[in-house]
Amino acid sequence: MAKVKTTFFCQNCGAQYAKWQGQCTSCKEWNTIAEEVIQKPEKSSWKTQSSTTKRVSKPLKINEIDTSQEARLNMQDEELNRVLGGGMVNGSLTLLGGEPGIGKSTLLLQIALKLPYKTLYVSGEESQKQIKMRAQRINPNGENCYILTETKTQNIFKQIESVEPDIVIIDSIQTLHSDYIESSAGSISQIKECTTELIKFAKETSTPVLLIGHITKDGHIAGPKILEHMVDTVLQFEGDRNHVFRILRANKNRFGSTNELGIYEMQGSGLREVSNPSEILISEKDGELSGNAIAATIEGMRPLMIEVQALVSTAVYGTPQRSATGFNAKRLNMLLAVLEKRAGFRLGAKDVFLNITGGITVDDPAIDLAVVAAILSSNEDVDLPRDYCFAAEVGLSGEIRPVQRVEQRILEAEKLGFSTIFVSKYNKISLLKPKIKIQLISRIEDLTSFII
Ligand code: TYD
Ligand code: MG
Repeated sequence: MAKVKTTFFCQNCGAQYAKWQGQCTSCKEWNTIAEEVIQKPEKSSWKTQSSTTKRVSKPLKINEIDTSQEARLNMQDEELNRVLGGGMVNGSLTLLGGEPGIGKSTLLLQIALKLPYKTLYVSGEESQKQIKMRAQRINPNGENCYILTETKTQNIFKQIESVEPDIVIIDSIQTLHSDYIESSAGSISQIKECTTELIKFAKETSTPVLLIGHITKDGHIAGPKILEHMVDTVLQFEGDRNHVFRILRANKNRFGSTNELGIYEMQGSGLREVSNPSEILISEKDGELSGNAIAATIEGMRPLMIEVQALVSTAVYGTPQRSATGFNAKRLNMLLAVLEKRAGFRLGAKDVFLNITGGITVDDPAIDLAVVAAILSSNEDVDLPRDYCFAAEVGLSGEIRPVQRVEQRILEAEKLGFSTIFVSKYNKISLLKPKIKIQLISRIEDLTSFII
């Protein structure tokens, strides 16, 4: 019997060691190194009978390279197409990561059911019956969708050879295992080997492959970092599980920009594409309410109007509470300090709660001004007109700073019927006769004169 070959892998970053050690020298994590059995096969190939002909690639002049192979498959889903950069490139490998229960399986099953191409959906997590039950809720048709429950890559490839699908979906990469490696499914060496086999299959047959990947507690894709380097595109599906909105972004894309964003709404019958998110994120209210302000933000390439809610109340305990949902708590403290110092508000004895509605998290600094406006409005208990919106960053000395792509924000606000937008005086705006009133301000004190 051949000697069993083992090696040690860091379960956090995938670094390989000959011996066990307490700390990983590459990522500095403790107790992450585990022994895994590996067995190098003579030849690992995705085909069952290894009939691969040796192809030697030759250098070609760049303008002689044929790019017609890079044809894209239309995924029948506007949001996904946009995030992928116009559809899925043939022979590409895409990894979709996201928290458990966020809707990764739902999204890909829904797409598999809609596609007019022959699609093979391989699941290592659910049975065919379970998938069928879910499919009936989403879309009872789906004539081109084949479901396979299998976790061994060699068996999957055997079925692929007989079904000959145009696109393959794997749910999830962590459940797969290959005969060539002895360690258990989900281990670093298994994930690496299965991905390598899938890449070989995708490239040799020009079939696009979509993989679902689990993520770790801190939001990274589980498995070796190298997995993200191996695939062509890494998509992230995120959102708050208690809310209905889900955002799809590209963290890496070899065939398009990473600035695009897809927005979905989780419904009883699957995920619905949201093409006009601003109209949904802003709640319909009859009267004006204090503490609510609307920010004209940009997520990726898309303008998005977002509602910010603040509640300022007298602190019951000695240390006032500050809490922010969907917004950086440190930044909230900074804005409060600026308000205190520059605009003379005594917020030190007040509790401040901030919430971005819709369960989304915003990084765009242009939301600062809306946060300040919401806080001021709640503190003074005065209502802000519902047709005001804000787009500017607030600096440490209370100056209102310009933001990028302000014209796009103004146009979106105008389209949605806002009457006034507050932006920085230092933004260069060359719009011809906008219908919306553009209120230029340069200091935080200026804002108080408008809203209080
Ligand atoms: P799922 O796709 O199983 O999540 P993941 O694969 O990312 O772990 O999504 C599960 C959640 O989605 C589940 O909590 C129920 C919800 N859901 C709906 O709200 N509507 C639907 O039509 C479906 C299929 C699921
Ligand atoms: Mg799932």
